[in-house]
Amino acid sequence: MIKIDSYFDQSQWQKFTKASETTQTPCVIVDLSRIKAKYKELAAFFSYANIYYAMKACPAVEVIDLLAELGSNFDCASIYEIDKVLDCGIAPARISYGNTIKKAEDVKYAYEKGIRLFATDSKADLKNIAKYAPNAKIFVRILVQGADTADWPLSRKFGCHPDMAIDLLVQAKQLGLEPYGISFHVGSQQKDVAAWDDALSKVKYMFDWMKYEEGIKIKMINIGGGMPANYLSEVNPIGVYAEEIHRYLQEDYPDEEMPQIIVEPGRALVGGSGVLVSEVVLISRKSRTDLTRWVYTDVGLFGGLIETLGEAIKYPVYTPKMETATESGTVVLAGPTCDSTDVMYEEAGYQLPQNLAIGDKVYWLTTGAYTTSYSSVDFNGFPPLKTIYID
Ligand SMILES: Cc1ncc(COP(=O)(O)O)c(C=O)c1O
Repeated sequence: MIKIDSYFDQSQWQKFTKASETTQTPCVIVDLSRIKAKYKELAAFFSYANIYYAMKACPAVEVIDLLAELGSNFDCASIYEIDKVLDCGIAPARISYGNTIKKAEDVKYAYEKGIRLFATDSKADLKNIAKYAPNAKIFVRILVQGADTADWPLSRKFGCHPDMAIDLLVQAKQLGLEPYGISFHVGSQQKDVAAWDDALSKVKYMFDWMKYEEGIKIKMINIGGGMPANYLSEVNPIGVYAEEIHRYLQEDYPDEEMPQIIVEPGRALVGGSGVLVSEVVLISRKSRTDLTRWVYTDVGLFGGLIETLGEAIKYPVYTPKMETATESGTVVLAGPTCDSTDVMYEEAGYQLPQNLAIGDKVYWLTTGAYTTSYSSVDFNGFPPLKTIYID
């Protein structure tokens, strides 16, 4: 069973419990002051980089406004995210269109709105950018390793082989675009810092090739997101990531040749700001002698906990009875819908107090990232996950 003080000091925790007293569950409580503190920490550790918040992690206006004020830039995945950021009064120069998969009309729309920085990883997309976003800066995303050590890998869907990326950069120049940078993402909740080392060595090969074989100077490296939030298993502090990545970069580039570095944190920046408050709907066993209890909560995979799919992200689960319970037992944790996929943890062996009862509150810690935006709109009639912002 988890200890709350491994995640919060008492006064921080009281802010969440106080807010949860008056809210109907399920509901995520997001403490904006924690995002502020985390942003400052990231900005200090990654002082050698420009931060582009991967807003898909929590695309709320409250978060955008806060981060904009702190000086963040924004990595957007769609024209809808772009519009949201622009509507907050943020200049297009602070926005990157980071999705390699987009319609020609969306490229055109973004360009008309003033966006000038685009990701790509394919010929067809590059041609669209050349046609509808003339003179734009492009960065090419490469395929990298890291899936084995990331809890939420980004697999082969994005990026291309470095040799193909070189072709795209060369072609970009021929098409009148600026071949500006190279990007990668080593997988989200990446536990192995060395994954960046591996990716950066591919980037270095590309930098050299572009310079010496093609006569093109690449100016930017986008090292993606991937830095972890604090879930159940221990991870290195963010400072270790920042320092190690800096060391890898310094090994490859002397100070005067250091390219612009972009970092796109999502999970690491907002994950720790949220606590999802839920209630136990039902506790049952599957047979008279079954040792395992099934605990059904009013939140599940379709209500915001989709990242428990395959038991990938293991949220710390807390109930106040943990403070006094003398006995605990293994549970399966499942959601409230009539879909058998809606089981969060069956294999992981979560332990909850034996005296847990229907109606008790269950708190899902570190749920500030990838919860609200993933929540379904009407599955089984359940409304989208509510969010309350506190400061
Ligand atoms: C292009 C891009 N950048 C950054 C991120 C954020 O990654 P993370 O939440 O692991 O920091 C993602 C996540 O999907 C992404 O697709």
